[in-house]
Amino acid sequence: MQESNQQPIGPPPPHVAIIMDGNGRWAKSRGLRRNEGHRAGVRNAEAIVRSCGQLGIKYLTLYAFSAENWDRPREEVAMLMKLLERFLKAQLDELVENRIRLKVIGRITELSPKLQVLINQAIETTSGFNEWTLILALNYGARCEVVDAVKNYARAAQNGCEDPAELTWKRFAGFLYTDDIPDPDLIIRTSGETRLSNFLLLQGAYSELYFTSLCWPDFDTERLADAIESYRRRERRFGKTGEQIRRTATEPITVN
Ligand code: FPP
Repeated sequence: MQESNQQPIGPPPPHVAIIMDGNGRWAKSRGLRRNEGHRAGVRNAEAIVRSCGQLGIKYLTLYAFSAENWDRPREEVAMLMKLLERFLKAQLDELVENRIRLKVIGRITELSPKLQVLINQAIETTSGFNEWTLILALNYGARCEVVDAVKNYARAAQNGCEDPAELTWKRFAGFLYTDDIPDPDLIIRTSGETRLSNFLLLQGAYSELYFTSLCWPDFDTERLADAIESYRRRERRFGKTGEQIRRTATEPITVN
């Protein structure tokens, strides 16, 4: 009998989270200014959002502005805020048309009042949609998130709404910005850097990581499909043995 070289392949990742890095280097390598790189980055984010429905993604988190990005030159921060504003305005029609829900994680109240209005309008307008969910990480940092969650938890405990003796991870996770969002299955970082830079550190405890040397503006839909393909060929064990996982797996799909 001929031996089968078919390899088991799993479902696509329901939640993909992306660290969109390398806009500056993309621009520099073309003799352009950094701002041009960020503009190209936004155009690429728009294209990636458009392709998510076909790729089977249910949640896409984009790390658009970190809590540490405020330390960049003032003109660059101003430019990034302008681009965010434009992105939100332009995206709203597409979100509505495609029934995509928008969520934002991060310290939103530290953003400009104008941006906060746009964010809250978009969240409210799309709150009833369930095709898939786009999550923007804005002024986000995992350490800030933990501090905010602990403060809120302590307040709830003081009010008698929470009992520290009964605290579990599941209960605590309800105090994170991502309370109703499942953990990311796949975290992608572009530009050749291989670190997480304060992004979803707790939620990413069991995420699969994918690093590519491509800068963000070059990471197109086909490259995203490659990352998904790589994820589908991995075995996720969550602390168990491979034998345990394979024994409990139901009817894996196979490809040549
Ligand atoms: C990294 O490039 C990117 C950022 C700091 C975040 C900004 C992201 C965008 C403008 C793209 C998408 C935006 C939205 C609104 C969805 P970098 O400047 O760190 O690149 P470098 O490491 O090469 O300098």
